[in-house]
Amino acid sequence: MKIYSEKKNINIAIQDLKTKNLKIGLVPTMGALHRGHLALVERALDNNDKVVVSVFVNPTQFDNKEDLKKYPRTLDKDVALLKTLSKDRIIVYAPTVNDIYEGNTVAQDFDFDGLEHEMEGKFRDGHFDGVGTIVKRFFEIVKPHNAYFGEKDFQQLQIIKKLVEKHSIPVKIVGCPIYRETTGLAMSSRNTRLKPEYLEAAPFIYKTLTAAKKQFGTKSANKITEWVENQFAKNELLELEYFIIADAETLKSVKRKSSKKSYRAFIAAYADDIRLIDNIALN
Ligand code: PAF
Repeated sequence: MKIYSEKKNINIAIQDLKTKNLKIGLVPTMGALHRGHLALVERALDNNDKVVVSVFVNPTQFDNKEDLKKYPRTLDKDVALLKTLSKDRIIVYAPTVNDIYEGNTVAQDFDFDGLEHEMEGKFRDGHFDGVGTIVKRFFEIVKPHNAYFGEKDFQQLQIIKKLVEKHSIPVKIVGCPIYRETTGLAMSSRNTRLKPEYLEAAPFIYKTLTAAKKQFGTKSANKITEWVENQFAKNELLELEYFIIADAETLKSVKRKSSKKSYRAFIAAYADDIRLIDNIALN
């Protein structure tokens, strides 16, 4: 398996693939790969000749320095997992911070037509500027035909689609369903940091989302939100940061439901000091 850490070397490899007219898929990750990431890579392998998996803990998207410091970094294990899928069709791109940011580790300012100010944007200052900066950078370096993102970070997925549209980047963005543990807990690299009692408590997030979905046909968004907030208030291990029912396209919280629109419910909650997010389609 080819592993690149320097832009100048991956540039040569990409040029070679382009000359051969091969279709390139990109799966951007921050490493600590789990089954959910592998599902994205499998999807990419199905639809492309070569798949670049970037493994990079991007400093400019962390508003919390401690979270950045503690983010799991497991490149050898990640490479071993990827090898179980394919040894010759996957290329790993694991750059250093310096190779990407060239001594200026700051995010570009983006305008995502307001998507960046909803939900996560309210709680993670500058997060989506950091995500936009690194993903745009990877699109420029890897020049993929297709790029794969999980729906767990649904807001991120919508923002990447907006990035591509506004900057006329020639790549197709493919959103992939959330991969869950048998308990219902959405897979996340952060789950590995949960202490046992919190790991046991965390599936409550998805249980609450599915219960909210059941209520969606008959109750107002306000009533459901109240119910969810009460459920979390009774939970001693999980602290709700937000629950919101939003239009899946604009991500604006729903005031009055319309049968023509798609809605999703979103949760961010703390389990100890670990921030977990999840979401569910409601209709
Ligand atoms: O979803 C992630 O893991 C990250 O936000 C991404 C897209 C790899 C950018 O760093």
